[in-house]
Amino acid sequence: MEKLILERVAIGDIEDSSVAAEELKVEHQALLGVVQSLWTDGFLTMEASSRSWLSPTPEGEDILRNGSPEYRIYCAVRDGTEVPSDKFGFNAAMKKGWVKFVKEEGKKKKLVLGTEPKTDTTREALQELREERELITRKLATRVTLKYFKIGRGPNFAMRRVKKVGDISAETLKNWETVEFKDYNFRTLGERVSGGYVQPLLKVRAEFRKILMGMGFEEMETNLWVESSFWNFDALFQPQSHPARDAHDTFFVKDPPRTLEWPADYYERVREMHEKGGAGSIGHRSPFDDAEARKNLLRTHTTAVSARMLYQLARTKPFKPARYFSIDRVFRNESMDSTHLCEFHQVEGLVADYDLSLGNLISTIRTFFAKIGITQLRFKPAFNPYTEPSMEVFGYHPDLKKWTEIGNSGMFRPEMLAPMGLPPNVKVIAWGLSLERPTMIKYRISNIRDLFGHKADLNRTKATPMCIFP
Ligand code: PHE
Repeated sequence: MEKLILERVAIGDIEDSSVAAEELKVEHQALLGVVQSLWTDGFLTMEASSRSWLSPTPEGEDILRNGSPEYRIYCAVRDGTEVPSDKFGFNAAMKKGWVKFVKEEGKKKKLVLGTEPKTDTTREALQELREERELITRKLATRVTLKYFKIGRGPNFAMRRVKKVGDISAETLKNWETVEFKDYNFRTLGERVSGGYVQPLLKVRAEFRKILMGMGFEEMETNLWVESSFWNFDALFQPQSHPARDAHDTFFVKDPPRTLEWPADYYERVREMHEKGGAGSIGHRSPFDDAEARKNLLRTHTTAVSARMLYQLARTKPFKPARYFSIDRVFRNESMDSTHLCEFHQVEGLVADYDLSLGNLISTIRTFFAKIGITQLRFKPAFNPYTEPSMEVFGYHPDLKKWTEIGNSGMFRPEMLAPMGLPPNVKVIAWGLSLERPTMIKYRISNIRDLFGHKADLNRTKATPMCIFP
């Protein structure tokens, strides 16, 4: 077909592609396909145009074959046959004066012939397609539009098109002098990859990690999802009778149910702190139950990781200040709703250094939140078993346009730090927040199930843009 078209255009421009298709005895669409390909290579020019005309509907076709209803009514009156009951045709016949009523004294109205029609005008109009508007309002015709192209010679017009090569192969390289290569298309978007998308939660995690590393924080190892109550609670000076240690709040592990090992001397110092106190504290003054401390659980917070790291830090002498962070999964036996699941991710940061104050904590928190776009902060006194003082952090969220709780923080208690062996003037400031909440706000996700778990929409994962905080 390509050859046919080029030969045809060599003679002269094609005024109407649809006519040309008939001439060349090919399908119009097929012809246009080839023309378009030739146009892309500059062999031809294309100019879109359209033409429309009226084409009879099935009813119009019937009239063309059998005459119009009004003509049929005229014929029935003329021939004395039964007058068809067709209101439309009857009205038309009356209007044209082909039939009329006469009323003689004392008799009923009678339908008689009027003027004799020269022709069946409707049928004629249809044949000639002249009375367009009437035919359309009577639904006797519809408008048909044909798009066609005017085709001429393009800048690269030639009688033969050599197929340009797109792929480089050993064969094409061997014949590189004669082979014509396709031009590079630097604007092409390329193929969309179908896999390897980063989950929105992980995009935010990556960004948080970058921010914290930029602030000089080192990432803690968070691979212990199963923890002992000792590291999750006791090391944090959380009383063994604390309600959070209840099975209603914590998932305990059945198998293996007990932790066998921990640093014996440190364990003893923790027990002593709980039972008797120390470092200026009177302790909880209740018996410390070894069985309670050994219970395995799914960690309820990453502060268990912080406790392990601080213990390690205390063992390296002399003490060196440190900044640690972690972002990983924690588990709580809570009732689930649109914003809570029983597992989520915690972002946790801590700084251990000499003589840190609450002011240092506040400024560290300010710096961190400013980096994710939250600059207006309020601090509210709160209680945590392992920090004193403790503060809930509220932020004015520019996206939500309201004050909202965005984290929890505090200075770790001496009862927690002293048994680890940290020098008494070393203070540890720390804060934590969930990863889910800022992610949901950032990506406008209102139900946590849409973000995390088996109901999360993979298409959202594919479509979510990169996470960039201001
Ligand atoms: N562990 C706390 C929580 O689970 C967060 C926190 C971390 C609070 C560090 C104070 C200091 O909410």
